[in-house]
Amino acid sequence: MNFNEKCKILSHEDSAPGYRTLVFSAPQIAAAVAPGQFVHVKVPRLDAAALRRPFSVFDADAEAGTLTLLYKIVGKGTEALAKESVGAEVEVIGPLGFGFPVQCNGVPLLVGGGYGVAPLYFLAKRMLKTGVEEKPILFVGGRTKDDLLAVDMFRNLGIEVRTATNDGSEGAKGFVTEPLDDELIKLRESGKRFELFTCGPDGLLKAVAHRALGTGSKGWISMDSHMICGVGACFACIQKLKRPNGEIWNARCCVNGPVFKAEEIVW
Ligand SMILES: Cc1cc2nc3c(=O)[nH]c(=O)nc-3n(C[C@H](O)[C@H](O)[C@H](O)COP(=O)(O)OP(=O)(O)OC[C@H]3O[C@@H](n4cnc5c(N)ncnc54)[C@H](O)[C@@H]3O)c2cc1C
Ligand code: FES
Repeated sequence: MNFNEKCKILSHEDSAPGYRTLVFSAPQIAAAVAPGQFVHVKVPRLDAAALRRPFSVFDADAEAGTLTLLYKIVGKGTEALAKESVGAEVEVIGPLGFGFPVQCNGVPLLVGGGYGVAPLYFLAKRMLKTGVEEKPILFVGGRTKDDLLAVDMFRNLGIEVRTATNDGSEGAKGFVTEPLDDELIKLRESGKRFELFTCGPDGLLKAVAHRALGTGSKGWISMDSHMICGVGACFACIQKLKRPNGEIWNARCCVNGPVFKAEEIVW
């Protein structure tokens, strides 16, 4: 079930250059949302016919009735959203789609790129709250250190964080798959099981899905698709999937995803 709420902005701050964190009051959505689900935001002061914009839930507090988003300013919609102040009202539909499983067989390896850490933070919190056998480990990558988001927040949860940047400004120089591969070798040597959970740019998603398939582990991939309606009506967000019998079908990321199993995605 989803809700259409008029949400008052409670706080709206820069989190890193070009990124903002938005907290608003959304009691119904906050009580119902699961990690990896998203909300569809009607950005105020955009043309009335403008499309809503989809954002993952970065955090939700059912008791306080609040929802938090972490977003990157990339275009018209996010630029307009960034200008909204505390006290303004925003129309939000959610929770939408299917998210990540919160249970995990073995070590949860969370792999995020840029704002892809948003749903992984909510997932990590829920995993720790519901009691997974092993603590998650976060692998986070970005072009520069400014794209490594919420790292301290993960560390404050007691989660080990491994970072990588393309320019070497923080952590390993190169792709985040390098520290991930080091960990996969260690886990294989110790005979420990693990599952991969990822959100970020397409190249990262594909690389993580490839490692899940290559190691015979479960991989949960959050696809970042362009969306229009967000509720299954327009077919703008088609993702080809493969059934166990090999049959290919067109899934809609907004209602069948955005999280899919690594083995079902046709790249
Ligand atoms: C399920 C889901 C969850 C998302 N969660 C987050 C989140 O937590 N934080 C966040 O910052 N963004 C998130 N996004 C992406 C976000 O929806 C887009 O960045 C936003 O809609 C862009 O709106 P705009 O009007 O500012 O940009 P536009 O003017 O529409 O586009 C500007 C640029 O951004 C690109 N862009 C637009 N939509 C996407 C997209 N879906 N993925 C990648 N590039 C895009 C365009 O190709 C263009 O280059 C999510 C998208 C989906 C589908
Ligand atoms: S965005 Fe319209 S069907 Fe998915």
